[in-house]
Amino acid sequence: MKLAVDIGRLVLQNPIMPASGTFGPEMADSLDFNQIGALVPKSITKYPRPGNPTPRVCETSAGMINSIGIQSKGIEYYEKELIPQYAKYSPPLIPSISADSIEEFAEMSARLGAHPDVAALELNISCPNLKGNGLAFGMEADTTYTLMKAVRHVTDKPVIPKLTPNVTSIQTIAKAAEEAGADALNVANTMLAMAIDVDTWKPKIGQGMGGFSGPATKPVIVRLIYQTAQAVNIPIIGCGGIMNGEDVIEMMLAGASAVQVGTASFIQPDAMIRILEEVKLYMSERGIDDIHTVIGAALPKKAEEVKPECGM
Ligand SMILES: Cc1cc2nc3c(=O)[nH]c(=O)nc-3n(C[C@H](O)[C@H](O)[C@H](O)COP(=O)(O)O)c2cc1C
Repeated sequence: MKLAVDIGRLVLQNPIMPASGTFGPEMADSLDFNQIGALVPKSITKYPRPGNPTPRVCETSAGMINSIGIQSKGIEYYEKELIPQYAKYSPPLIPSISADSIEEFAEMSARLGAHPDVAALELNISCPNLKGNGLAFGMEADTTYTLMKAVRHVTDKPVIPKLTPNVTSIQTIAKAAEEAGADALNVANTMLAMAIDVDTWKPKIGQGMGGFSGPATKPVIVRLIYQTAQAVNIPIIGCGGIMNGEDVIEMMLAGASAVQVGTASFIQPDAMIRILEEVKLYMSERGIDDIHTVIGAALPKKAEEVKPECGM
């Protein structure tokens, strides 16, 4: 059974990887890192950041809201302490970068991109930035383009912007990222959401609003993948609401070449391994021997190229 997929120049042994912020070295006791497609740690910032006020996480009826605020020990700690820990495992390491300005994104990408143990870079362009009045870089096609172009100039490693679902047209943003040289796209980060405690009449998250993840988000993410796949020619990594193997297949049918698993790992630390087994079972039960058969199979067929007749 062929499970390997290509994300641009990056080859993954299988399409299952963690979503940034839901995975770390402490999980090595409950999850065999060598069995997953790639290693995607929590987003890092240039300088240490304390993160947002508590409470930072709350449960809702069908998903969770978080506003961690990119708590980070900074890039130096990451290089010295974390990269060597991940380098012990065979799947490619894909750091996720978060930054406050385009210049800082480029600087961090150059530094991490030059690291021999880094296989590719994910750009978290979906978190708020100070220079953009608190809007995420990925909210606008022109900032997405400028940011991606700046990063493209400083690294040859595959670059994967993680798009935000909180936009009117993801296709416009996706095309801007592709035109600026993105190798693949992550669709998508969390959805802006809020929950209020009916006893205290206060928001359940210290910061007020936060990012919604988990099973309730999956239909929206499937729609976003389906739309993005028709707008670009680069691979898509689906992210949002995957709880089981059939969720993976659904996102792949919509056009994803690989997927990320987040909230499910909080419920079951080795959920990715179970989900991979469920994908294999789905394939074997239906006699599918190559996962590529599934990728984009639900997309409308592209109109057949009409060849001009001889002499025309
Ligand atoms: C506690 C928590 C922390 C997160 N931190 C990050 C982060 O640092 N960078 C990032 O790009 N996404 C972050 N995310 C978003 C996830 O990577 C993912 O996009 C989201 O959880 C949707 O996937 P899921 O429904 O499978 O959880 C975080 C999500 C959660 C729940």
